Amino acid sequence: MGNRDTYRVAIIGAGFIAGTAHIPAYLGLGKRVEIVAVADNREEACIHAAKLFQIPNYYTDPQQMLDECKPDLVSVCTANKTHKQWTIAALRAGAHVLCEKPIALNLQDAREMYEEADKAGRMLIACQNNRMGAIQAVKDLVDSGRLGDIYFAEIENVRRRGVPTWGQFHLAKENGGGPFCDVGVHYVDALMFILGNPKLISVSGKTWTKIANADPNAGKSKTGTNLQYVPRAYDYREFAVEDHAAGSMRFEGDLLVNFKFSWALNLPPVDGYRIAGTEGGLVYNKKAQGDHPIAIYTSMNQYQADTVPDIDIAKPGAVKGVGHDLLIEHIIDVLDGKEECIIKREEVLNVVAVMEAFYLSGKLNREVLFEEISQF
Ligand SMILES: NC(=O)c1ccc[n+]([C@@H]2O[C@H](COP(=O)([O-])OP(=O)(O)OC[C@H]3O[C@@H](n4cnc5c(N)ncnc54)[C@H](O)[C@@H]3O)[C@@H](O)[C@H]2O)c1
Repeated sequence: MGNRDTYRVAIIGAGFIAGTAHIPAYLGLGKRVEIVAVADNREEACIHAAKLFQIPNYYTDPQQMLDECKPDLVSVCTANKTHKQWTIAALRAGAHVLCEKPIALNLQDAREMYEEADKAGRMLIACQNNRMGAIQAVKDLVDSGRLGDIYFAEIENVRRRGVPTWGQFHLAKENGGGPFCDVGVHYVDALMFILGNPKLISVSGKTWTKIANADPNAGKSKTGTNLQYVPRAYDYREFAVEDHAAGSMRFEGDLLVNFKFSWALNLPPVDGYRIAGTEGGLVYNKKAQGDHPIAIYTSMNQYQADTVPDIDIAKPGAVKGVGHDLLIEHIIDVLDGKEECIIKREEVLNVVAVMEAFYLSGKLNREVLFEEISQF
């Protein structure tokens, strides 16, 4: 590491998240980085990204790109099932890696990836961009101790109809799972970050596929960003992951967390975090319209008191929606030795453990203990 004039960056997977978040975030850093190449096994996606962002080289074989370009930092932005393969290849080629979430679908794979990073003497950073921005304010409030001991939380992201239709999200063989892998990983990760990474005890959960594989209109409506990538043709009949995931997790310290994550559910949308402690509670309602999204619920003498903190949510980090800008700037600062990385290995392994236990629980139709999936 150490301060560098310019980091040479390469991108593997030139789809939605590369084109709307990673590449613009790197370009936003000016001379601190140079994007030297992009790779994707769909040539049209490479060409599109290379032209749009004026990237000098593209490859349909990411290994060839790594061998020839020898980048300092690689963003792995492919579908989930290939994160491990390309992360390890990039580490072995001498690059630091920012890997999209979930970095792996099971604990053993995630551990192997970090072991490879250790062997190579390079950093592996999970792209948990939702920790930037408002979540840091929520963490500050919880860390202040004003809520007392936290013992109960609810995390939820429910879309009534909102299946991602541009890529491979709906294909089990490419992505592993549905909304738990997609949004669920962010909410679990952010909650673990807020609460100081409590150790997982067990998960009891269930997956359903009831709507997305039957309703041709369950797709997410197109947004203005779709000019920036080449969508894969979507056919709802290929839908093979869960469209609704729900359950409960237990952690050390008397903590229980209920969760629900849906791409299609016949209920009104909800989105946010509800955290309850012995002295107070906090709600971060990402769907709040007009009202401030964060509220704190405490008592003052005999009165119940609701407080709205004076935090400008739009400002700290809600940049271009998902916070990649701030995370990528943070990573360059980390590589320069100016900051310590806020996304730690133990936290990422905890989140992958939760995810693995969740899917196993759904499969076995019972509660799954942490010890059943792996041993730290
Ligand atoms: N952090 C976030 O907020 C966020 C948001 C969206 C997606 N993601 C993650 O980003 C990843 C990609 O999602 P997306 O929406 O960009 O999907 P996408 O389908 O639009 O892009 C993925 C790209 O990877 C390419 N690809 C797949 N397998 C490959 C391989 N073996 N070799 C080379 N290229 C390959 C595909 O052709 C495609 O262009 C997923 O892991 C997803 O979970 C993260």
